[in-house]
Formats: sequence, C-alpha cells, structure tokens
Amino acid sequence: MPAHTPTFPSKLPQVGITIFTVMSQLAAEHGAVNLGQGFPDFHCDPALVNAVTQAMQAGHNQYPPMTGVPALRQAVAAKIEALHGRAYDANAEITITAGATQAILTAILATVQPGDEAIVLEPCYDSYVPNIELAGGKVVRVPLTPGTFRPDFDKIAAAITPRTRLMIINTPHNPSATIWSDQDMRTLEELLAPTDILLISDEVYEHMVFDGAEHQSAARFSGLAARAFIVSSFGKTFHVTGWKVGTVAAPASLTAEFRKVHQFNVFTVNTPAQYGLAAYLQNPAPYLELPAFYEAKRNLFRQGLEGSRLKLLPSTGSYFQCVDISAVTSLDESEFCQWLVKEIGVAAIPLSAFYGDGFDQKVVRFCFAKKDETLHAALERLRKL
Ligand SMILES: Cc1ncc(COP(=O)(O)O)c(C=O)c1O
Repeated sequence: MPAHTPTFPSKLPQVGITIFTVMSQLAAEHGAVNLGQGFPDFHCDPALVNAVTQAMQAGHNQYPPMTGVPALRQAVAAKIEALHGRAYDANAEITITAGATQAILTAILATVQPGDEAIVLEPCYDSYVPNIELAGGKVVRVPLTPGTFRPDFDKIAAAITPRTRLMIINTPHNPSATIWSDQDMRTLEELLAPTDILLISDEVYEHMVFDGAEHQSAARFSGLAARAFIVSSFGKTFHVTGWKVGTVAAPASLTAEFRKVHQFNVFTVNTPAQYGLAAYLQNPAPYLELPAFYEAKRNLFRQGLEGSRLKLLPSTGSYFQCVDISAVTSLDESEFCQWLVKEIGVAAIPLSAFYGDGFDQKVVRFCFAKKDETLHAALERLRKL
C-alpha cells in the first residue's frame, strides 16, 4: 500500500486564514503602512529587556512553577489590589499564562461542557467563538448596539437560558475602542446575580483608557469578581506582544479548575520573561503612564484625519480608532480595506471580521500603536480620501 495521509473531520470547519494575517500579507506585498494588526512598531522599554536578560544570565532558564513564578504572581496581586481594591491570593488565585489568548482558551476548556451555552457580545475578538466550539459549547451571539457599541442589557438578559454557562466581556473593547462604565458593570453584576453564569473578563487593554476615565475591572465589583476569570496581557501593557505572557485572576475554586487544564496544556510559561516582568513591575510608572502615552497617539491620529471624509468614531480606550467609511465609498468594509491597502497604501481591518455573519456597518478599524512617524506616513495617504 502506498503511504497516505489520513483525512479526518475538521474540528473547526469554518476557520480559515484570519483577516489579520491576510491584511498584514497584503500590506507587506504593497509596501503599505500597516495599521491593521494590533501590535506596536516601536521598541519596549530597554529596562524590561535588561531585566529579562539578567534573569537569563542569573540562570533562570529551567521550568518555573506550573502556576507561574511566585514573585510575578505576587506583583500581579499587589497591582490589582492597588488599582482596584481587591486582594487576590497570589498562590491560589493568580496564574501566569502564555498570553491572554491561552488564558481565554484554558478558561473556556475548563468550564464549558458539550452543549453548554456561552454568550459573546459581537463584534468580538476572533478567538472566542472557535474556543467555545472546541469545548463543544454552543455560541450565543448578542450584538453590541450598532453605532455606539454599548451593551444592550435587555438583549443580554433575553439570551440567558438555564444552559448558559459562561459569558465573555471585553473592556476596553477591541475592535470598537469603547469602554464599559461603572454603571455598565453594576448592571451586569445585577443581571448575573441570580444565575450561576461564569464570566471571562478580557481586560488586555486595561491600561489604555483615555480622557481621565478609569478602567472598570471586574475586580472592582464583588458580584462579578466572585464568578470571573479576569484576563490580562503583558504583551499589550509593555509593548511586547511577541513574548506572550499574560495573567488570570480568579477565585480559588475557579483557579483550581483552570490550572487542571493549564497543567496539561501549557504546563509552564517562559521563565526569564516571568522573572524580568516581576522585577519590572516593581515600578508602577510604566503602566501608570500608558494612558497619556496612547492618548497622545490617539489625538495625533484623530487630528490628522479631521480634514478627511473618514468619520471618526469615539475612541475612549484600547489602541484602536474606528472610522465610518460611508462618505468615502460604496464598497463594503472588506472590499474597501482591500482597495485601501492596494491603492492608498494603508492597511486597516473591516469590523465585519469580528461578526459571525459578517455584519457590515461601513466601519473599519485602525491601530494607532505605532511610531509617530508611521502615523504621519499613514495620515498623509489617508488625507487623500
Ligand atoms: C481583546 C483581546 N483579547 C486578547 C488578545 C490576545 O492577547 P495576547 O497577545 O496576550 O494573547 C488580544 C490581542 O489582540 C485582544 O485584542
């Protein structure tokens, strides 16, 4: 018999190459300024690189504890307590993960049983839906209000059934650049109070909140914290998306189940990065200064677009800026982004990529986590529109 590669049914038949990869490839092919995929094009703080280098040189190169290096877990617990007033036990309630993406998958695999329902609010980050499907769960999509992207609590309430196991929220929000208010969080807390629904609170942009607003972490609300896996990402906070180190804070009983999956999936996370991050976190200035740093970039980008026919939507958090393209084109979002990258030389992401049904509202997303010179180069091209 000739050798053959067996075929098998795909676990994720709907999943293809993501729009982020497609747009980044097109950007490279056409020499375009890439404001598509969400990552900085500038260096991180050299002090952070030094801290990791020192950890390697000091011999921190073998497996760390499965749950994460204690000094890093302690630093994360201290940071959450200082910022949000909730004391997490660094041993029993904080776990270090290989980025937020792994944290979210692990939380879903640990909690969602086949047939359980999991609510996502669309538009949403692209890993949530396939993660729920991998766990055998049923995805229940609830739209954020088109135009404002505010949570519609009547719609969320209507989506809850006795089978709802989990809900995922994300503030500051990718892709809409909106944030949830204190009142939004309280309303959710009240809504979930009579239920056994677990919460994943994706807070990877926690330190990118603008105009003096405060990030409303689920940690601030006891009714939410008691049921939540709160997920964050050092990649986003410290401009090191390629390092893939994140955290999960969750009550001890949730953490225990989370770690059962984590142990046999990732087991441990990059040791020197953890020691380096633990040392670097002793100084709060880098993350406390982040809102002002990104607010200046947001303002530069917005001011630069003011003369164009792209209509600016509010950007109150994250490092994204959405624009309404309807005055510029009759193309749909996806066609417009293809045209923009090829003809104008700027990559953006269509919001339709964040909806299961490809809902098109003539809005595209730019990432402004870029050097000022990159933003100026993009603006020069975009002003033609
Ligand atoms: C909302 C959201 N969650 C999670 C992630 C993934 O974070 P990480 O790179 O730490 O896996 C991203 C990255 O773009 C994101 O935008």
